[in-house]
Amino acid sequence: MSRLIYVLNGPNLNLLGKRQPKIYGHETLADVEAACRAAADRLGFEIAFHQSNAEFQIIDWIHAARETASGMVINPAAFTHTSVAILDALHTCEFPIFEVHISNVHKREAFRHHSYVSTVATGVIAGFGAQGYVLALERLGRLLAE
Ligand code: DQA
Repeated sequence: MSRLIYVLNGPNLNLLGKRQPKIYGHETLADVEAACRAAADRLGFEIAFHQSNAEFQIIDWIHAARETASGMVINPAAFTHTSVAILDALHTCEFPIFEVHISNVHKREAFRHHSYVSTVATGVIAGFGAQGYVLALERLGRLLAE
């Protein structure tokens, strides 16, 4: 089995650290990537870490992951609440998928309470800040060892 895990990030997450810091904190996407790479080293994973503002690009990465990876951590950002196309792409994957949100979406506007991705995800983490990504990778480590 491959030790490759995809970590995908949706729109506006390139602005982490600058974007609404009261909601999303001060850590940048580069900080999130560094934390994921440190966790991956510890867990013996290789990671493909990506961010895009374009839905098609995220779908193309999901298609690449389904051929090569053993798991996925995805923060689809606003596409969480809107994208049947990302949901359909995730349905083609046979590995565990963890949905991560930096903020607690359930404490926020009603339109953030529904997630298409949650209907396919193995697990969901929300409101743990950037640490949520590391927790998801740790859970993948446990599942893949079983
Ligand atoms: C988010 C929550 C989404 O509702 C929002 O559109 C985002 C980020 C989060 O990480 O908390 O862009 O996914």
